[in-house]
Amino acid sequence: MCGIVGYIGKDKCIPIIINGLEALEYRGYDSAGIAYVLNNKVVIEKEQGRIDNLKKKLNLLEDSYLGIGHTRWATHGKPCKENSHPHQVGNITLVHNGIIENYKELKNELAEYTFKSDTDTEVVAAYIDKLCKEKKDMLEVLKILKDKLIGSYALGIIVDGLDKLFAIRKDSPLIIGVSEKGNFIASDVPAILKYTNMYYLLLNDEFAVLDYDDVIIYDSDGCVSTKNIEVFDGTFEAAMKNGYDHFMLKEIYEQPKVISDTVNEYIKDKKTFLEKMKGLEKYTAIDIVGCGSAYHVGLVGKSLITEYGKVLVNVDIASEYRYTNHIYSKKHLIILISQSGETADTLAVLRKAKKEHIDTLAIVNVVGSSIAREADKVFYIKAGPEIAVATTKAYSCQLMLLSLIAAYLGIKNKILKDDVLEEYRKVSNLLSDSLSDTKIIERIANRIYKNKDIFFLGRKIDYALAMEASLKLKEVSYLHSEAYAAGELKHGTISLIEHNTPVISIVTDDSIRLKTLSNIKEVCARGAFSIIITNKDIDDKEMYEEIIMVPKVTDLVSSVLVISKCQLLAYYVAKLNGCDIDKPRNLAKSVTVE
Ligand code: G6P
Repeated sequence: MCGIVGYIGKDKCIPIIINGLEALEYRGYDSAGIAYVLNNKVVIEKEQGRIDNLKKKLNLLEDSYLGIGHTRWATHGKPCKENSHPHQVGNITLVHNGIIENYKELKNELAEYTFKSDTDTEVVAAYIDKLCKEKKDMLEVLKILKDKLIGSYALGIIVDGLDKLFAIRKDSPLIIGVSEKGNFIASDVPAILKYTNMYYLLLNDEFAVLDYDDVIIYDSDGCVSTKNIEVFDGTFEAAMKNGYDHFMLKEIYEQPKVISDTVNEYIKDKKTFLEKMKGLEKYTAIDIVGCGSAYHVGLVGKSLITEYGKVLVNVDIASEYRYTNHIYSKKHLIILISQSGETADTLAVLRKAKKEHIDTLAIVNVVGSSIAREADKVFYIKAGPEIAVATTKAYSCQLMLLSLIAAYLGIKNKILKDDVLEEYRKVSNLLSDSLSDTKIIERIANRIYKNKDIFFLGRKIDYALAMEASLKLKEVSYLHSEAYAAGELKHGTISLIEHNTPVISIVTDDSIRLKTLSNIKEVCARGAFSIIITNKDIDDKEMYEEIIMVPKVTDLVSSVLVISKCQLLAYYVAKLNGCDIDKPRNLAKSVTVE
């Protein structure tokens, strides 16, 4: 999810490029770099970490009017300065977003070049340099290039001695911005909105040549194309939301993609999977610790790891765990779960564990955050930046990672076979389909948004999901909601159930299904408005007024299908209540105080 910005025009390019990169921060990155032309020479600066690190090295007022910038999200080669973009080989300096699948084959044709980085991008730079030297015409080179590169790419290219900016793309986004004062390339509209709202959409295999006062776009046959200009008619924030009304909704719909990115990172092939998880089988006890939704992820994880890993698992809220004495086994692991990697209580648990010499594993979204830096081992999820305070996509990715740990231990225990990994490859498509129909969710939201109390029921893993569903609903809609273990309701709380009280029951676990169904009957008998989320038809239609079906899959992946329905319900109820969905009152995204 790298970000590209480039500019050629009458204004100084460095501030424009930096501003554009900052607007693309939401794509996630681990390093940033810029190349600009100064006195006919290309100057390159790059730094690992935040854009601010790069900014500190730059003179923003340098007399440069042509440049390219990049935020890198590592794919080939670890995050470090050498692997960051721009890459320069011979006369070519370029930035790249995407993955070149045949870079090894291309490298074989480039024996005369030496490479400084581990990236596929540097190979492309060398390849273009070689073609340029042979053809002596950059247009010819771009025409050839699109037939030679296999994979996905958006490239911004500067050629020594040419006052032009070149761009080409396939399967990675790139737009060409135009204005009176200059022309731009960018991965996304927010990067250029401060300067212009007019742009061309570059399609697959198209390429463009940008001059100080002109842009020429070529179609996939290499002929000059007369494209319609697009005009973005909205604010910066609207551009960031990419057509969605709220970040929360955008992030819910990003889940199929980020779940697929996350699981593919760990199960690209069996060897990768075994290497990444190696050593986890040595632990005889695991404590999972987090706050809020991260704690709820732990509860689902406990269910799966106990079932398949046959390990003793304890889950606790970080603010409780840090002040409790614990008995540790000889081979004890503490798993810290945190989206931000900065939550004070979770960080305190990590530091305490390290003092006590207990092994720690962090499951974190934000690269380079405190928890990620300090833990013995980190499993990054690939959720990308989450802007809505209420977590959705990070929760689901964390859940997939704990599930992968359970699957690994299950394979080691011979309870599961390797083919279970296929289930993780399918879940993303199932989730896409499942998110495509919101009619029933919106209908239920319309029926319940004025209710004062809403209950969620479930047993075992379904109870853990009910807790997250209830938290999601209350935090964004401000309705009072509680999650109950279905068998526990009758020990007091059932007195709150009256005519029309919404009770949302999650019933996906076959081993306990009949017991939960009996509890649902109990609330129906008290007049509840019963809604069931399940993966199997329920014959007795008296037991519900609304039923939300999710696909029947293994419990290792089914939770994300269930929770996405609950996230959507929370969203629509909050919307009907006119709540500030992305920034609910009194809440913070990252809680760095205890
Ligand atoms: C805050 C957020 C929650 C989140 C919790 C833990 O309370 O509002 O959505 O679950 O912190 O955050 P973390 O970044 O550690 O996952």
